[in-house]
Amino acid sequence: MLDLIYPASNDLLLTIFRGGPKDEGEWAAARRSALALAESGNLLLTRSRSPQADWIEDTKLLVDAGAAAYKAAQARDTKALADVREPLDRSCTTCHRQFRPNVFPQQGGSK
Ligand code: HEC
Repeated sequence: MLDLIYPASNDLLLTIFRGGPKDEGEWAAARRSALALAESGNLLLTRSRSPQADWIEDTKLLVDAGAAAYKAAQARDTKALADVREPLDRSCTTCHRQFRPNVFPQQGGSK
């Protein structure tokens, strides 16, 4: 979570907040972050710490958001990338609400 998902989503959301990637380097960074998120979703899935249906559903939200971000970054589509912000945020929140009840919602948001 801390080493991979958190920095990747932070980087991606920050880029979106700034109006999208500005040059090839930033698009490449966006693609890396998006892939890291999609792959983290797959990793969380195989971790099967909680093999309930909800856990599987929640990992899928993250995989889907990461995949959508990757597609947008590949197409250099700033608008499509910005559209991923909401589902990405929701994927974190949805899972944390269910599986991190001791932390959520004191820290608020998706963190
Ligand atoms: C499929 C479930 C799931 C998804 C999706 C998910 N998380 Fe988490 N997250 C957890 C769980 C469970 C913990 C509690 C710590 C642990 O067991 O790894 C956690 C802990 C964290 C922590 C605290 C670090 C720690 O070790 O206590 C951060 C920060 C975090 N998540 C960020 C995110 C962000 C940002 C996203 C979305 C981009 C996200 N998470 C998506 C399940 C999820």
